[in-house]
Order: sequence, then structure tokens, then C-alpha cells
Amino acid sequence: MEKKYQMPNLKDARLRTDNPVDIKENLFKIPKAVENIGFGKNFYLRTYGCQANERDGEVMLGIFKQLGYTQVFDTEEADVILLNTCAIREGAEDKVFGELGSLKRLKRENPDLILGLCGCMAQEEYVVNRILEKYQHVDLVFGTHNIHRLPQLLGQAIFSKEKVIEVFSEEGHVIENLPSSRVGHHKAWVNIIYGCDKFCSYCIVPYTRGKERSRMMSDVLNEIDEVIEAGYKEVTLLGQNVNAYGKDLEDGTSFAKLLQAVADKNIARIRFTTSHPWDFSEEMIEVIASNSNVMPSFHLPVQSGNDKILRMMGRRYTVDSYKEIYNKLKTRIPNCSFTTDIIVGFPNETQAQFQETLDLYEYCKFDLAYTFVYSPRKGTPAAKFEDNISDEVKSQRLQELNLLVGKYAQENNAKYLNKVVKVLVDGPSKRNKDIYSGYSETNKLVNFTPMKAKVGDIVKVLITETKSYSLNGIEKED
Ligand code: 5AD
Ligand code: SF4
Repeated sequence: MEKKYQMPNLKDARLRTDNPVDIKENLFKIPKAVENIGFGKNFYLRTYGCQANERDGEVMLGIFKQLGYTQVFDTEEADVILLNTCAIREGAEDKVFGELGSLKRLKRENPDLILGLCGCMAQEEYVVNRILEKYQHVDLVFGTHNIHRLPQLLGQAIFSKEKVIEVFSEEGHVIENLPSSRVGHHKAWVNIIYGCDKFCSYCIVPYTRGKERSRMMSDVLNEIDEVIEAGYKEVTLLGQNVNAYGKDLEDGTSFAKLLQAVADKNIARIRFTTSHPWDFSEEMIEVIASNSNVMPSFHLPVQSGNDKILRMMGRRYTVDSYKEIYNKLKTRIPNCSFTTDIIVGFPNETQAQFQETLDLYEYCKFDLAYTFVYSPRKGTPAAKFEDNISDEVKSQRLQELNLLVGKYAQENNAKYLNKVVKVLVDGPSKRNKDIYSGYSETNKLVNFTPMKAKVGDIVKVLITETKSYSLNGIEKED
């Protein structure tokens, strides 16, 4: 029998048309035939990568639960195993291939087990081809644009006992009637914009997640109301590039306007991630500075401290313009924290250019940085440049940069000694049940001795000891 797979195609995924974004209010449906498919059955879902993927994981969790499945955390107990994958670097993909390899035994022992792969890796044709060649025990592959089809695809895989591959390489639309089951109890993620149109030369995301598509402001605000109603204390507005929010809607909305509307709601803490230094507007800074429930903590990826490398990366800003935003934010919100992402070993990066990244780091004295070795991604423009920095030099640069990261993490945290910070309590710490942990307004991990603190409370903590990556303290009673 001829097998019909709908395969991904990175070239098609690159396409951007002027077609307006379609907001689909009722695309998600559970067909009668699969209504009870999960009763008495277990599923295991593992999510890799960024918060956008975590949020997709919550949607899939919601779908599995509606199908009657029970979640398990041990693959041995599962009837369905789904890996929600990340494609950002080779290392992320290697982990998934390793996991697929080790799941082969389970499939051999239980041929009825359904093993699925979804998320960003599923959007890459070379990944799906490799699965077809070398990981034939995978039953189901679907992408980031058709999560709403999980009930149908799962049913097809279970009933037909054939491999099911359905990946759409399209710009994408917005689907508003998806269920979800939030993992956090007092911190919620809310998508505001999907996809990315920045096309930084090294990055696979615009291909795996489609074009920038904003949700209608009314839909976002309704979700925020639900989250508040459900007792959540903190909301993180999510997008690959939140600053671009509203640009595609052509109804005059913008991220600054949305942020103000969310800040007007009765929610204690608002965060957002990720923003791009290129279109970080004055209006945004104003809204952040004038609303006390917008947290003073910014993640603004810089990637490199050299203008030529930034240009080759397609970042559309210069070191000076980055410093300008940095200085504005630091001036308007004096005690804010600042974190960044940096890539070392981009093709042709010289030692002098790398030194400029270190210089920028010294200038900004970031609270923290996520640092990465450049990893060529098939299908991106940078993958055509020769990956000509040796592994040795790349790891040397990473080490040198990480020394600075550690130094400034410690120096920044040391400023909190004997200060009182407000902490949203996550609960007992993993290592010691008598110690509670949570995050401060500036997003510092705080471990503290509780007095009256309960999970989900916002309490004051006196900092008595500072470490590079956390603060220790004692709850202060009012
Ligand atoms: N190689 C290394 N790091 C990358 N990132 C994105 N693409 C690549 C790549 N090809 C990093 C960037 C981005 C973060 C999420 O991952 O620093 O901000
Ligand atoms: Fe990874 Fe990027 Fe996909 Fe997030 S959007 S899962 S970081 S590839």
C-alpha cells in the first residue's frame, strides 16, 4: 500500500506573503471516533526548548486530558510517548535523537505503544528523513502548525497501525479554541504573538514557527481575565519577539498598548519574553517605568558586541544603539535586572571581534547571560558560510565569556545583601523542605527560611547571603 506522508519543507516555510492572518475560532475539534480514545490509557509528554514550546506542551496536555488520557512521568508506564522538540542548536537535536534511540526497546516490548515527535524539529525535512531512515519505530510526526490535529492524528496512528506524518510548512494562522492545562499554579504563560519575521541569519525559528501572527488584543485580555479568575499571581506574555505585537493587526495596537491594558488588570506581576533590541520603543519603556506590576527585569538578547558580526547575523542594530536602549532602561528603571543571550564563534569571528563582545559585557555588567557556541542550522543563510572557527577556539571563547558571566552574576547579586526583596513563593526548595524558594521582582532565585509564607504568596525576604546564581534570606514578618 502506498504511504502518503505530508513532509516538511524549509524552503516553503521561508515564504512570507501579504495574506492577512486568519484567526480561527473553531478549528480544534475532537471527532466522535476518537472521543474516548484515552480512557484507561497513559501518556508521557516531554518538552524541550523555550517557553513557547512549554506553552505548546500545556496545550497538548489539555488535548490529551480531553481525550481521557492520564499523564505519567515514566515512559515505562505510557501507552503514548510524545517528544515536543527544539531545533535551535545541534545539541538540542542530538538529545532528542538519543532519546528516540533509547525508546526503541520499549517499542519492541510493546508494539502497541505510540511513539510521537512534534515541535520545531518536526518542521525540518532532514530530521523527518532521518527518522524515516533510522528511527522506524517512530509512529507519529506532526509540526508546530497542526497541534490542533493531535486527536485526529493520534486516532489515525492507533487505528491504522501505520506511520503518520503530517507537517505543514506554511505561514500559519492563529487558533483560538485550543484547550490547555497549565503546569504552573500561580505563574501563567500567555501567548501574545506567534512566529518570527526577523530572519536572523543563524536562526531556524522563522522557518519552524512561521510568520509573526498577533492574537487579537481582546483574546489576550480575555485569557488574562481567566488566569486572574483562576488565582494566578504572575503572567508572562510570550512571543519570539513581543515588541512586534500588533504590527500585523493594522488596528493601531502595539505591544506598549497591550502591556498597558494588562497592567491595568488586577494582577500582581507581569513579565514578557523575548524582546528584540531593534524595535524596543520609547512607548514601551514608558509603560514599563510607570506600572509597578510590570516587573523590572529585562531579557534583551545582544548576540555579539561587534557591529560587523551583528550585520552578518542580520540583527538590524549596532552596539551603540543597543547601549542606548540599555542606558535608557537603566536610567528610567534604576534597579532593574538585565539579562542577555550571546553567541560565540559565528563564522569568521576574529579574536578582536570576540574581544568587543567581552568589552560590551564589561560595559553592561549583565545580571546573567545565556551563552552559546554557534551551531549551523541547515536551511538558514549562515549555514552557507564556512563554519570556520575551530571547536577548540569556540569553547575557549565560551569559557572566557562565562568567566565574566559568573563574575558579574556574583557582583550584581552582592548588591542585594541586607536588602529586603519581594518574593513570589514557589514552595519548599528541592533540596531542603524547610527552606522555601521563589523569585524576586528582578527575577532572582531566592531561597529563604519561611515564617508564614504559603505557596503563591508574595512575601518580604531579608537577604542574608548572596551567591552567583541565587540569594539566601529569612522571611520578614510585617
Ligand atoms: N547557534 C547558536 N545559538 C543560537 N541561538 C539561536 N540560534 C542559534 C544557533 N544557530 C541562540 C541565540 C538566541 C537563543 C534563544 O539561542 O542566542 O537568542
Ligand atoms: Fe527551540 Fe526556537 Fe523552537 Fe523554541 S522556537 S523550541 S527555542 S527552535
